[in-house]
Amino acid sequence: MDSILVTGNGPLNGEIPIAGAKNACLTLMPATLLSEEPLTLTNAPRLSDIRTMTTLLQSLGAEVTGMQEGQVLAMSSHNIPHQRAEYDIVRKMRASILVLGPLLARFGYAEVSLPGGCAIGARPVDLHLKAMEALGAEMDLRDGYVHAKAPAGGLRGGVIEFPFVSVGATENALLAAVLAKGTTVIKNAAREPEIVDLAQCLQKMGAQIEGEGTSTITIQGVDRLGGATHRVVTDRIELGTYMLAPAFCGGEVTCLGGKIDLLAAFCEKLDAAGISVEETEKGLKVARKNGRISAVDVTTEPFPGFPTDLQAQMMALLCTAEGTSVLEEKIFENRFMHAPELMRMGAQIDVSGGTATVTGVEKLRGAPVMATDLRASVSLILAGLAAEGETRVSRVYHLDRGYEHVVRKLRNVGATIERIKGE
Ligand code: EPZ
Repeated sequence: MDSILVTGNGPLNGEIPIAGAKNACLTLMPATLLSEEPLTLTNAPRLSDIRTMTTLLQSLGAEVTGMQEGQVLAMSSHNIPHQRAEYDIVRKMRASILVLGPLLARFGYAEVSLPGGCAIGARPVDLHLKAMEALGAEMDLRDGYVHAKAPAGGLRGGVIEFPFVSVGATENALLAAVLAKGTTVIKNAAREPEIVDLAQCLQKMGAQIEGEGTSTITIQGVDRLGGATHRVVTDRIELGTYMLAPAFCGGEVTCLGGKIDLLAAFCEKLDAAGISVEETEKGLKVARKNGRISAVDVTTEPFPGFPTDLQAQMMALLCTAEGTSVLEEKIFENRFMHAPELMRMGAQIDVSGGTATVTGVEKLRGAPVMATDLRASVSLILAGLAAEGETRVSRVYHLDRGYEHVVRKLRNVGATIERIKGE
């Protein structure tokens, strides 16, 4: 397994390009199953998760090309001979469950392996299944698969009211409702930019959707959907991650293509911590306002609140803030696995349930650490950028799931970082 070696050094300066959003692309790709016409995605990130989704769609009979060449994914689901998503693919990536809605909507049947949990939590899919039932489908769970069957005349519009916000369940509901007969109302819907991006792509395919980006989305089902070409929205989590590089090390970095409205709550916290963010025509220009950053409290919430996917990165930054910060993780039950690794670097963190209290220290010290999940892995790299000495982050396959060319992007702004091929 590869590892990444990073040595703390001085300020970082320059520009970092931000890719298309992994979490938008993973919900846009299954939309191809809804139509016989081609769906083309541009600005698609080149990540292992996207390759996994490509393999899953191909296993169903979809044609997907372009991943190797560049950032264009050309897909066609003209011929889908079966609707069974196999465990050995689904277990690699939870977002595979997002083929359930479109398969059910277009073919009236789907057999999808239940995704396992993952390091950050059990992550059940009960809300996904309840959403399909609200559209008239019958769900039968057996042998580790969900066997879903639509009524004889196809899915019927209905009211889907989520007890709490779920990004994936909102996406599955949208992907199913666009072909359901009649009107569907999704209440307590997720408001993430990735939901808006999916809705806009579906609208280009002919779907009738209103209210995307708010808590109530209304869909008028249509008989069929056409093809489209859609540009994947900028990845707000990659954006937030790289905005922290100059916050850790000093200097000034512009994250190309960044917009404040993708992560306004995160920018407010950066401002309170003493980091300036300026939106320019190129993107978001970030610099420390003066010396040491200040402690801030953070609570993760569904959009437009502070994103859980930036909690680990923010915790790493606050390890050397002046004062004590309290971080509350309200979305996942086990998303502090980066804390013990940061403590190996000298951080002072007390974890109690979903609350982590970080007492700032002057500087962290480089150490061998281990990545435990996608966002934790990059928080350890960021911490190593500003630590004394060398930090070696192992198990970086987690990183490849969500960050393209990390070493190149950070080296281009002056970081001392390299990837070591695994033994
Ligand atoms: C999406 O996961 C993202 N993944 C996650 O990003 C992100 O952290 C999460 O949304 C929250 O923003 C993708 O988009 C591929 P949820 P998702 O359904 O849809 C519980 C990353 O690092 N829940 O909003 O799975 C669930 O366990 C990843 O890129 C149920 O109980 O998240 C969690 O506690 C990590 N039953 C909470 O809801 C369900 O049926 C929110 O989960 C569904 C979810």
